[in-house]
Amino acid sequence: MKKNVKNNVSWIGYIDWELQTFHGTDYSIKNGSSQNAYLIQEGKTVLIDTVWAPHRFEFIDNLKKEIDLKKIDFIVANHGEVDHSGALSSLLDEIPNTPVYCTANAVKSLEGQYGKHGWNFHVVKTGDSVNIGNGKKLIFIEMPMLHWPDTMATYMTEDNILFSNDAFGQHYAVEEMFNDLANPCLLMKEALKYYVNILNPFSPMVARKIDEIKKMNLPIDIIAPSHGAIWRDNPMQIIDKYALWSTPYKENQVTIAYATMWEGTAQIAHEIAKEVARQSPSTVVKVFNISKSDKNEVMTEIFKSKAIAVGSPTVVNDILSDMEGWLAFLKELRFKGKKAAPFGCYGWSGEGVKILRDRLTQAGFNVIPEEIKSLWNPKEEDLGKIPNLVSSLLAD
Ligand code: FEO
Repeated sequence: MKKNVKNNVSWIGYIDWELQTFHGTDYSIKNGSSQNAYLIQEGKTVLIDTVWAPHRFEFIDNLKKEIDLKKIDFIVANHGEVDHSGALSSLLDEIPNTPVYCTANAVKSLEGQYGKHGWNFHVVKTGDSVNIGNGKKLIFIEMPMLHWPDTMATYMTEDNILFSNDAFGQHYAVEEMFNDLANPCLLMKEALKYYVNILNPFSPMVARKIDEIKKMNLPIDIIAPSHGAIWRDNPMQIIDKYALWSTPYKENQVTIAYATMWEGTAQIAHEIAKEVARQSPSTVVKVFNISKSDKNEVMTEIFKSKAIAVGSPTVVNDILSDMEGWLAFLKELRFKGKKAAPFGCYGWSGEGVKILRDRLTQAGFNVIPEEIKSLWNPKEEDLGKIPNLVSSLLAD
């Protein structure tokens, strides 16, 4: 079912209440999601993006209820990832010569995923535009790494709509469609979680692209992303948030993340938390057993932190496997400008804390010299080192 966005522009995507994970199981979905596609019916009829393949037939049926598919003058494929291009093959089976406007990299990703079928690609670059009638045009803006090298945004003049694809999106199902109708806390929480877990590795490119878009001086009344709510109430708020988040962002927060075998490492984690609260009552402190916590939620808390402490016991000359995988994801997200301290218990060889130190350094953290390494369970002399470790973590 299509829904009106503005004038002759409609949403025609798929609201996915059942989705529980994204990117395999790398991203948890707690409040549903959506794949947003848009239909423009001006002098020209234009489809912007499609939906994920499991929903392709429902999507195409919905399109057919609105228009004769042969009336589609061209399709804009802002991004080749399957959640937006999954219906393209089936759609082009029905209307085979329809032009597909996309970047040169999107030709690679679409042909790479779906095969070379001689689709009628029209390769565009930043600043290229196409008239769609009624005095309106679409202007294309390449958005490499937001979120793939093939991504672009499409700007519609006169209605002043930026179809931004993944950028400014959220994995958040909003039947009401617009940001002013969504729960504001949940909307910002999901927008931040999306930024941290999907876009943060590309923050330098985000910062440059925001500058570039601002310098283009395009009036923006609506930002229509490919996931979640459409920003029509003060759409610049999410651009301003991205500008802020793409800096080495930190709040007055310390996060402690640990894995534990017999609760010794857990005890150190909680003692560190208490000491942070004692030394700096205004600092927000969060503690997570990463084996029992949502990885994406914890990463969002790490993003907000100025310093973290990470703990694991030593097991078979190594760290716990939960922590190993968690640290791989931490490194992938490329956080910048944050301090870290390692801690953990051991019974025999005791390599765990050194391994944590190395992994945190490789992940881009400024690892302080202080650490807590406890033989068997934490003893008074071990816990006595916590105040120094905490004051070093808190120091500017
Ligand atoms: Fe929503 Fe990068 O795909």
